[in-house]
Amino acid sequence: MNTENVVRTFVEYFEERGHRRITGSTLMPPPGDDSVLFTTSGMHPLTPYLEGRPHPLGRRLVNVQRCLRTTDLEEVGDPTHLTVFEMLGSWSLGDYEGPQSLRWGYDLLTDGFGIDPRMIYATVFGGDDRVGPDTSSLEVWGEAGVPVELTVEDNWWDNGPTGPCGPDSEIFLWTGDTPPQSTPTQDERWVEVWNHVTMRFRRLDDGSLVPLPQRNVDTGMGLERLVSLLQGTSSVFESDVFGLWRLLVPGLWDVDETSQRILSDHLRSAVVVIGDGVLPGNTGRGYVLRRLMRRLLTVLWREDPTRTLGDLPDQLIRHTLDHFRQDMGPMAVREILLEEERRFRRLLERGRQILTRPRFQGPLDEEDLHYLHDTHGLPRDLVRSLRPE
Ligand code: ALA
Repeated sequence: MNTENVVRTFVEYFEERGHRRITGSTLMPPPGDDSVLFTTSGMHPLTPYLEGRPHPLGRRLVNVQRCLRTTDLEEVGDPTHLTVFEMLGSWSLGDYEGPQSLRWGYDLLTDGFGIDPRMIYATVFGGDDRVGPDTSSLEVWGEAGVPVELTVEDNWWDNGPTGPCGPDSEIFLWTGDTPPQSTPTQDERWVEVWNHVTMRFRRLDDGSLVPLPQRNVDTGMGLERLVSLLQGTSSVFESDVFGLWRLLVPGLWDVDETSQRILSDHLRSAVVVIGDGVLPGNTGRGYVLRRLMRRLLTVLWREDPTRTLGDLPDQLIRHTLDHFRQDMGPMAVREILLEEERRFRRLLERGRQILTRPRFQGPLDEEDLHYLHDTHGLPRDLVRSLRPE
């Protein structure tokens, strides 16, 4: 099943059960929302509706939402983490409850996608001093014969320190070569694919929980992970999502497998972020993009500093923009990538020169790092990459 079919199967399944498809938003949070720099989950653009505002399309929604997470940046290169990824989502805005969502989820995974029920494990909120254990999810999994592990922090979902939140039940699929063993928290071959959150609280500034005016269900499933599991590939990078990258990147730059994955992920993410209207900069979203590009250029130049993003085929940029239905032309994106590359190269050269000065020959202390930053515009990370501690 290719990615397109996976999306279609998911959306149609929920449409057949009364959900209306909504168009996914860009990576930019809605105007006036400065709680996060980028959309990090499918629920984020829907926050006002989870908090009680009526949605024009009703109480049951489904969509595909692109998301960006920098919390997992260090993990990129492993089999499952990506910076920009797509999330399949379904919502009940004060309509049906968590157990219904889990039953449909189980049915879709097993009947719709043909996943062997023995490959499934669930985790459920075990309760803390404020909210009791999630017994209704436990019942559903008990009826389905799915093994369950109880956790506390791992089964509580929020999108930040304040806002809508609640207990969740996460569905894991076994990815090992052996028959399934152990549990999701003990063995990372159990990969989380789908999170069902019973979103019924709002957390206030002082940390207290108050009930939302309605009990919602918010689910999110990482598309690339699901596709890779269904296609039986050993990582998201081997699935059809990255088909063109795998075909073209090895011919461009002779780098090891992990570097290839990092380059593909970071470049694809940079293109999407630029396509959504962000320019590299020193603050906010622009700085996230800048960091992403510096990370990828550092990997690219590790063995050969003459490599350049100028070699990146337009085809890869266009393919990414098309996939995310972005209007920007590939040439405009390429110019931004190249300008940032030139800027970083100049900065590195200047940094190297400055670090040869006698003052910086010994170990660098905090004062040196401040001085290099304030006087010469050399960020701490960059200095540390030129002169590891
Ligand atoms: N909002 C939930 C998540 O992102 C579904 O995991």
